[in-house]
Amino acid sequence: MTEQPTGHDAIDSFSNENRTFPPPAEFAAAARVSDGSLAAEADSDPEAFWARQARELIDWQVPFESVLSWDLPNARWFDGGRLNVAENCLDRHVRAGLGDRVAIHWEGEPGDTRTISYSDLLDEVSRFSNVLRSLGVGRGDRVNIYLPMIPEAAVAMLACARIGAVHSVVFGGFSSQSLIDRINDAEAKMLITADGGYRRGEVFPLKPAADEALGATPSIENVVVVRRGGNPVDMVEGRDHWYHDLMEGASVDCPPEPMESEDLLFLLYTSGTTGKPKGIMHTTAGYLTHVTYTHRYVFDLRPESDVYWCTADVGWITGHSYIVYGPLSNGCTQVMYEGVPNHPGNDRFWDIVERYGVTIFYTAPTAIRTFMKWGAEEPARHDLSSLRLLGTVGEPINPEAWMWYHEHIGGERCPIVDTWWQTETGGIMISPLPGSTTTKPGSATFPLPGVGMEVVDDEANRVEHGGGYLTLTRPWPGMLRGIWGDPERFRETYWSRFPGRYFAGDGARLDDDGYVWFLGRVDDVMNVSGHRISTTEVESALVSHPSVAEAAVVGASDATTGQAIFAYVIARGGAEVDVDALRAHVANEIGAIAKPKAIFVTPDLPKTRSGKIMRRLLRDVAEGRNLGDTTTLADASVVGELQRRASEASSED
Ligand code: WT7
Repeated sequence: MTEQPTGHDAIDSFSNENRTFPPPAEFAAAARVSDGSLAAEADSDPEAFWARQARELIDWQVPFESVLSWDLPNARWFDGGRLNVAENCLDRHVRAGLGDRVAIHWEGEPGDTRTISYSDLLDEVSRFSNVLRSLGVGRGDRVNIYLPMIPEAAVAMLACARIGAVHSVVFGGFSSQSLIDRINDAEAKMLITADGGYRRGEVFPLKPAADEALGATPSIENVVVVRRGGNPVDMVEGRDHWYHDLMEGASVDCPPEPMESEDLLFLLYTSGTTGKPKGIMHTTAGYLTHVTYTHRYVFDLRPESDVYWCTADVGWITGHSYIVYGPLSNGCTQVMYEGVPNHPGNDRFWDIVERYGVTIFYTAPTAIRTFMKWGAEEPARHDLSSLRLLGTVGEPINPEAWMWYHEHIGGERCPIVDTWWQTETGGIMISPLPGSTTTKPGSATFPLPGVGMEVVDDEANRVEHGGGYLTLTRPWPGMLRGIWGDPERFRETYWSRFPGRYFAGDGARLDDDGYVWFLGRVDDVMNVSGHRISTTEVESALVSHPSVAEAAVVGASDATTGQAIFAYVIARGGAEVDVDALRAHVANEIGAIAKPKAIFVTPDLPKTRSGKIMRRLLRDVAEGRNLGDTTTLADASVVGELQRRASEASSED
């Protein structure tokens, strides 16, 4: 290899995607933003811009006095203000005469449905707020929520917000050990759970898992149990209460608690590089401003006519910000679905889109690649003409998946917003504005108006073109306010690598037009013969081959080249994978430097329950190491199969 990396290319980046998609004229003509005026306003005075959003989008009991105080890494937004998040999500819409508008079209996996208006939701939340108070929960107390995707999950979160309690939602797919760790770290007083929920046509038990945890969580005083699965459960006298029993006698009268702007709204635990999950802290006014603003502008929301659907689970930040708080604060109508996309058939999502007339659809790239695997005939069986805007979140989307989404779901007429953000950022940070941004398949495009972003190299020099590390250059309203109980870890994790900047942990490339291309987490960046290559780029090349449905790439240590590229691929429905042809294909797409040393064809990939590929685990398999805890794997047996194949391959060498 004679070619040297040039200039500030902290991460060498080879691929080039040249297709562009300007906003369709008709869409742009009716859009909330169709030019650069919002960005120009924000650039000229970011704080004044955010203050305007806070004043216009939020109802205040007492107006704020200052916009921002910033003493790195501690930000305070909208000090002096008083407000209540639940009041903004519910009461104000009912007061405005919109009580009959549908807030949630809920659909259970077995096909049962509930239609919940804003008035209904306000009543239910108010009653549950009184229930919480009657069980001794008050301002600042932590409440753990461990529920399936049922309306009571939103009710529980909003009831906490209404009385000033702090919720900590734990995804229903997490084990009882994860629940123990999170309850104990937050010292939660109450647990809200369900008997069980529906998944893949069966009831998965939750209360029994909670019971396993409850022996080791001394702070929990009361447990509230929603009946959903109908599965048998043990109820401990005096500690465990049925939700429906408590609600029966509860009053609908519960004035919202006046909260300070910087009062804690919720904790949400996320994994870091150590084994101990971090309790990410989000507060009241800045968070609400950020999610209301982004939900309105990124999704070009028309609350009076849109039917919005985000397929995330409320257990993740996407569910917090773009199922519960953003959409309800904006007063829109949404679909909430309990189950998996392939029950009873592979077209369940498209059936839902058709029946409810969904106009805005927000999902994850991993889901889109799964739909590709199932085939375009599934969406083709349904009328998807109600859709007008599509979104993605969670990982970089490879251009092939983007194009498939554009063609087979969006009917080539819907703009796609590829939204980059994190649990820590609270809301969307980098994304197209669908009425004004020309998109490129696979690029999250530009920072939103109000957001300061720069790509930097190892020495923190700004990169104008090419690869580097993504940093955020100024505080934003929805930013995390810390890690629960660990201010030092907060500073160290996010604010120490590049002085004065927030470091997101992601590699990114800026192309010649200034578009942002995410390259994956920097700990997923490989170094082969002195070249740093993004795992994501190699994966994207692999899945652009017609025989490949899904791919995961890791850098495993190699005596000659430092790291060598190992790839694990899933064949696309029925296709034969020719490993040598695939290696040549990658060489062709990216360059010989990116050619995987070994490719394993596998029936499945180890993923966390949130759908992220567990690269560290794959690296361990590639390097023949013992595996540690795999309890968060979606399917732990996948690992055994991978190990078997890897050792077969190495004994063939
Ligand atoms: C990490 C954050 C944001 C809610 C869901 C994930 C990756 C997220 C994108 C995107 C490329 C993305 C990043 C980020 N990521 N969205 N549009 N393009 N990468 O939240 O679990 O906190 O993960 O997800 O690597 O750092 P999270």
